[in-house]
Amino acid sequence: MTHSYRIGMVGLGVMGRSMVLNMADHGFPVAGYDKDAAKGQALLAEGAGKPVGAASDPATFVAMLEKPRAILLLVAPAKVVDFVLADLLPLVEPGDLIIDAGNAYFKDTDAHAKTCAEKGVHFFGMGVSGGESGARYGPSMMPGGPKDAYERVRPVLEAIAARVNNEPCVSWVGNGSAGHYVKMVHNGIEYAIMQLIAEVYDILRRGLSMGNEELHQVFTGWNKGTLSSFLLEITAQVFTKKDDKGGAGYLVDQIKDIARQKGTGKWTSQDALDLQVPVPTIDLAVNARDLSGMADERRAVAKALGSPIALYAGDRQAFIASAGQALQAATMLAYAQGMDLLRVASKAYDYGIDLAEVSKIWRGGCIIRSGFLEDMRAAYAKDPTLPTILADGGIAAKVTATHPGLRAVLKTAIEMGIPTPCLMGSLSYLDSLRCGPLPTNLTQAQRDFFGAHTYERVDAEGTFHSHWDQA
Ligand code: 6PG
Repeated sequence: MTHSYRIGMVGLGVMGRSMVLNMADHGFPVAGYDKDAAKGQALLAEGAGKPVGAASDPATFVAMLEKPRAILLLVAPAKVVDFVLADLLPLVEPGDLIIDAGNAYFKDTDAHAKTCAEKGVHFFGMGVSGGESGARYGPSMMPGGPKDAYERVRPVLEAIAARVNNEPCVSWVGNGSAGHYVKMVHNGIEYAIMQLIAEVYDILRRGLSMGNEELHQVFTGWNKGTLSSFLLEITAQVFTKKDDKGGAGYLVDQIKDIARQKGTGKWTSQDALDLQVPVPTIDLAVNARDLSGMADERRAVAKALGSPIALYAGDRQAFIASAGQALQAATMLAYAQGMDLLRVASKAYDYGIDLAEVSKIWRGGCIIRSGFLEDMRAAYAKDPTLPTILADGGIAAKVTATHPGLRAVLKTAIEMGIPTPCLMGSLSYLDSLRCGPLPTNLTQAQRDFFGAHTYERVDAEGTFHSHWDQA
């Protein structure tokens, strides 16, 4: 069937196939292409009775698509996009649209857009979050690129997206590589929240000797309240899963404590450093994964210094309540850092990101969806120029109500010797922002002392230099 498919999908792995079936379920004819013909056959079998087609060579695939063409790419690893573009660009025509829906590095997306533009082809980088079930039944999607071209795929994307209060979790997020940038920051926040949850788990597990059943109860309770989020929901579920290799205990206790990563969290930290935006909770979450991988070093230090863990002896219920507050406060601070990075990046890269829109489309479908996203959306809708979400009255009140819990839990964790890098980093971020004068007047004095780097005065305009070693 030539030129009869509304949209094309390159890459029929688990994510690509799931998204094709999602689009077909909504009545859109979709053609899939994968060099591996077996994957195309699997799609046709799974999609029997639905408007799906398959091809295993690019020319047949491109000829199957309605013009102007819209082609999604869901290929991994991201560098495969270079090869796919080399195959597709000779076959497509000016005005066609190619959308990379993988987790690509935003600078690669800029390069791909440039290559496509030379042929008059539009290129979008689109973040897609929600894993396999999201792709199949409703992801959150973050497309960025030339705005006019978005209109062409908007009906399809809005139909397949997750919905919250009947609003689709997709909108055009900005120019250029904004889509992949927003997804990168989403993942940075994802790393931060996951590590915060892990730290609270560690305090309860080791400091309070809590078993998995009790942990399940506590996390389930939190998920029903103001802390409700997808990550807490799945965490509560993790604690109930019995070892599936026949052991008597729980699966979580059989998993090695080495966290892997594909790089999106690291990219977030790297670009935040370049843009001079502090995102300590994200940085420390990346560090925590790296440190977990230092198995030999960890063993050597534990042997040399011992592992001092004291048990908590106070009121357990009060402590658990504080732990919930700690998690809530630190999570809000992690979102604040990510949004701040987006605010600055939007200006630096001319993305034109609408932070209320980003908050809106993260409310459902994605990994960092949570009740708090609605607060964030409302805050940015009320004041799009907010310097930080912490300046919003409602959010500030929530941080004020919960940070005492964060302090209390940290004091205990420090005494017990349980590592809490992200909880601490979050609190320091808050205290640094709100404490008034920072000690960096001294830093400036030191710089001027040894390097004549000059300083500014509180009582006069201009820059000054002093001879510090003279009376
Ligand atoms: C999502 C996830 C998804 C993926 C992460 C995992 O939004 O659906 O973020 O993109 O699971 O990239 O990243 P790490 O392997 O680095 O933890």
